[in-house]
Amino acid sequence: MYVNLCAARITRLFVFHRCTRVLFFFFLCALAQISVRAADHHKWCYDRQNKTCGPAHWHEWYSSCGGKKQSPIEIHTSKVKRKAELKEFVFHGHNEEMKGVKVTNNGHTIKLSFEDEITMKGGGLSSTYRAVELHFHWGNSSHPGSEHTINGKRFNVEMHVVHYDIKYKNIKEAKAKADGLAVLAFFYNEGEENVGFNAIVNALNGVRHEGQENKMLSTFKLNQLLPPMENLKQFYRYDGSLTTPTCDEVVTWTVFELPSTLSKSQLAKFLTLNIGGISTTDPPKVMVNNYRPTQKRSSRPVYASPSATGASARPVVFLGSAGRTSVAFLILLLLFW
Ligand SMILES: *[C@@H]1O[C@H](CO)[C@@H](O)[C@H](O)[C@H]1NC(C)=O
Ligand SMILES: *[C@@H]1O[C@H](CO)[C@@H](O)[C@H](O)[C@H]1NC(C)=O
Repeated sequence: MYVNLCAARITRLFVFHRCTRVLFFFFLCALAQISVRAADHHKWCYDRQNKTCGPAHWHEWYSSCGGKKQSPIEIHTSKVKRKAELKEFVFHGHNEEMKGVKVTNNGHTIKLSFEDEITMKGGGLSSTYRAVELHFHWGNSSHPGSEHTINGKRFNVEMHVVHYDIKYKNIKEAKAKADGLAVLAFFYNEGEENVGFNAIVNALNGVRHEGQENKMLSTFKLNQLLPPMENLKQFYRYDGSLTTPTCDEVVTWTVFELPSTLSKSQLAKFLTLNIGGISTTDPPKVMVNNYRPTQKRSSRPVYASPSATGASARPVVFLGSAGRTSVAFLILLLLFW
C-alpha cells in the first residue's frame, strides 16, 4: 500500500516536473520568439548618428551581421586571383528611359526603386539577374565614404545596384538563397560634373528628411550613371553579404575598379540629406558617413577580371613537374658554378 502511494507520488512529482519543464520550455520559446521579433525591428545606425546602435552592435540584433562572409571588404590587388571567366557584362534595358522610379530617404541612405524590366548577365555570372533598386554610401565634406576599399583607398561615394536571380520569384524569395542576389558596386570621386547624375541630384531636394518618398519626375537611363562600357571590363568578384542589417550572406559582389566623377556641388547635395526630423521624434541629423567598416575577408578568394589590376596581370607560365625539376637543377648548377 505504502509503496503504491509513494510510487503514485513520485509519478505525480515526475509528471509535475515534466510539466514545469514543458511549461518552462514553452515560456523560453515564447520569449525567444518575442526577442527575435524585436530584433527584426531593432533600430540600427552608423556610428556618426549614435555609437550605441552602430556597426559594431548590429550582430547583437541581427546574427548574420556577425557571420564569416560579410561585406564590404578591403580588396588588396596583390592578393586577387585572376579569372578568365570574368568576361564582359551584357546589360539589357540600361539605355532605355526608366519610368516610375521611386526615390526614398529611409534614414540610412537614398534609395531608387525600379519597376522597369532591367536585367544583366555575363560578367562570369551563371544566371540572369534583374535590377530592383540602387542606393548610395558616402562620407562627409572632409572624409570619403565608399564601403569597399582598394589597396586601402576609400573613394568619395559608392553606388550599389541590387539585382536578384530571375530563377526566383522576387527579391524576398531570392534573399533566402545563397546565390540569390548580385550587387554591382561603382565608385565616384570628386572631379568633373557628371551630367548623367543630375536627375538624381535634383530629386534629392524632395527627400531631404527621413521617411520622405517621391516619384522621380525627370526620367533617366541607368547607363547614364555607370562608367563607359570599356571601363566596365575591370572588376573584382567575391562572395559576401548585404552591407546593412539583416546582413544576409547571399550576395555575389562585383566591384568595378575605375571610379567615375561627381562635381563638388553634386557631392555637396548628398550632404544636405537628413536622418530623423519628420517621420520620427528624433531631432534631425545630417546623413553622413553612412558606410560600414570593412569586414574580415578570411579565406574568401577575391577574383580579378582579365583586365583588372592585380598581382598576376601577366599570364603565369605554368611549369609541369618536369619543368620544375629542370629549373631547380639549373638553380643548383648556378649556385655551385
Ligand atoms: C543613442 O541610442 C540610445 C539607445 O538606442 C539612446 O538611449 C540614446 O539617447 C541615443 N543617443 C543620442 C545622442 O541620440
Ligand atoms: C568627417 O568624418 C570624419 C570621419 O568620421 C571625422 O573624423 C571628421 O571630423 C568629419 N568631418 C566633419 C566636417 O564632420
